[in-house]
This record gives sequence, structure tokens and C-alpha cells, in this order.
Amino acid sequence: MHQGRTTLSKFLIQQLKGSPEQNDLAALLVDIAACVKAIAAMTAKGALGATHGEIDSTNVQGETQKKLDVLSNVAFINTFSMGGLVSGIASEENDEPLDIDPGDGSGRFLALFDPLDGSSNIDVNVSVGSIFSVLRVPEGGRTGLRDYLQPGRSQLAAGYAIYGPATMMVLTVGKGTHGFTLDREVGNFILTHPDMTVPAATSEFAINASNERFWEPPVQRYVNECKAGRNDVRGRDFNMRWIASMVAEVHRILMRGGVFLYPRDMKDPGMPGRLRLMYEACPMGFVIEQAGGLGSTGRARLLDLDPEAIHQRVPVILGSREEVERIERYHHEYDNGTDQQYTSPLFHERSLFAS
Ligand code: AHG
Ligand code: MN
Ligand code: MN
Repeated sequence: MHQGRTTLSKFLIQQLKGSPEQNDLAALLVDIAACVKAIAAMTAKGALGATHGEIDSTNVQGETQKKLDVLSNVAFINTFSMGGLVSGIASEENDEPLDIDPGDGSGRFLALFDPLDGSSNIDVNVSVGSIFSVLRVPEGGRTGLRDYLQPGRSQLAAGYAIYGPATMMVLTVGKGTHGFTLDREVGNFILTHPDMTVPAATSEFAINASNERFWEPPVQRYVNECKAGRNDVRGRDFNMRWIASMVAEVHRILMRGGVFLYPRDMKDPGMPGRLRLMYEACPMGFVIEQAGGLGSTGRARLLDLDPEAIHQRVPVILGSREEVERIERYHHEYDNGTDQQYTSPLFHERSLFAS
């Protein structure tokens, strides 16, 4: 039977019917969509909106905040505060989680988010996005920071908005990954990309190659082989992309495949990666896995990590299944000493220079 256009609300009502928790989750995702529309309107104004540029502040990670980082954060906080469905929030832009309804039990969810991802791209008019993750308040109620430190596999919902030529929302509630495009004139998100799938094979990778000298050997091996192309072990040529907006990279991978790497590197030995586990890696890992791809640190599944801190950083490798599996194998071989490249006599010679 012809169903007509499927709005986000209609879709969520259909996907999440049943328990009161499911109904509330649908309502929460509709609230998030309203917030995304507000941020889309701000970003679309560009330099005309007086929302561009930096402000004189840094966040807990020591990053200079853009005005739009702060305004998007306020938009999310207001959405969750007024919606009555969320008990506490954790944001990239807030040092500590914020309690929204301390103790009254009305909100059954915790929301974690990166209000504006890729914000170095705002002033140059390149796509940015927002990333969100929804967790259940643990049974027995709120106790504090610990409530948030749930592994990614516990997420009830996750997704992102991309503010590009079109604004889109892509989300999962654990029943596939689905994409909605904002019909700006009408103000509705319309289901345009049902059941998104990441092709298992790809010839496209994304990595910030300026960090090459800081990468671990298995990542250097992988990228070198891709670059060596058709006459080397891979037997085909690869293409490379780097947008510096994780949202835009993940979106491209959902649309046509690919692999994204922000691996562990030795640039700052105190930081095991650039991206944050709770509001970047876990939600994107969930979205990618639900579309048939994989999300890994190179040594473990992202969604199986036990978080230790809200702003914890983690190596991130995600996308097409065959490539992520290969990169995991290279880490494994390196760790086991079975990587030919690094167990050969040449390796020992090289290692003289490495220390
Ligand atoms: P954010 O703007 O939320 O701090 O995140 C930016 C992230 C991610 O989107 C992107 O992949 C990466 O940082 C870019 O890092 P480089 O500046 O090293 O390219
Ligand atoms: Mn980010
Ligand atoms: Mn951000």
C-alpha cells in the first residue's frame, strides 16, 4: 500500500510503538530534531548571523570555542531542559555532566552530545554537524557520574545531524540506520534514506595524513599499502579524503562506503586518540554498525569499551567491514610480532633508530 511521505515523527511512531519507554524515546528524538532545525537555521545564516567567529573561552579539552559551539550547546541544553524527558546531560562543551531533574524521576534518559562537530570548518563554510547518544537512567535511579559511563552497546538511540548543502538527520534506535532530509520550507524531516548500508568493500580511506610520523606501525602499514595501489598487495588504487568534520566523513561512508581513521598516535603521548568516546565514537559506532559497518579502536570494538571518563579519548576506526577487519588484523599481527614487516631483520635495523 502506498504510504505517502514519511516524516520523522511518523517514522518514529511506527518504529517505537509499545512500551512507555519507547514512546518517550520517540518524543525525545522529535525534540532533538527540533533543536537540530534551530542549529541548522543558525549555521545557514553564515556570516550574516553574527554567530560566526571565536569567543574568548576554551572548553575542558583546552579547545578554543567558536560562538556556534556555545550557541549550539545552549540549544541542546534548552531542548533537554524544557522537554522533561531527560534526567541529565553530558556535552563536549561542559566540563561536568549537568543534572536536569535531580531526583524527581521524571526523566528516564541521559543525553550525551557533541553540539557542533567539525567546528573549525564553520568559518570556511564547510559542512559541520551535531552528534547525540541516548542512554537509559540505570535501574535504581541516578547516583552520579557513574550513570553516564555505560558502554556504547547500551545506547538506546544515537545519531547525527549534518549541516551541509542539505540538512540531514541520520539515526538509529537499534533497528537499522535511517536518514531524513530537512524540507526547509515546510520544516519537516522526511525519510529519504531508509535502511542505509555501508558497502563491505571500498577503495576510499580518510585520515589526517599530516600525523603520519606519529602513527603506530599497523596504521602506517595500512595507509602505505593503500597508497601503493594496484601494483602492491592491495591490487587496486585507493582514493583519500579528509574533511576534518567526523560527521561529514561518516555521512560519506554511509552513502558510498569508505573507512575513517583517527587512530592512536604519539603526537601527545598522554592522549590515546583525538576523538571522544562517549559523544563521538560510541554514537557513530552504533550508527555505522547498524548500517552493516564496523567500529573499532584497532584492538577492540568501540561499543564494547568500558568508559572511564566523560571526556575520554579513544582511537577510532570505522566504516566498511573488510577494511576495518584488515586494520584490526594489522594491529593484531603487530602486537603478536607476526607482522612480517616488523619482525624482519630490517625491522631490527630500523629499531636502532627508533629508540
Ligand atoms: P570538534 O569540532 O567537535 O572538536 O571535533 C572535530 C574532530 C572531528 O570532527 C574531526 O574528524 C577531527 O576533529 C579533525 O581533527 P584534525 O584537526 O586533526 O584534522
Ligand atoms: Mn566533534
Ligand atoms: Mn564539537
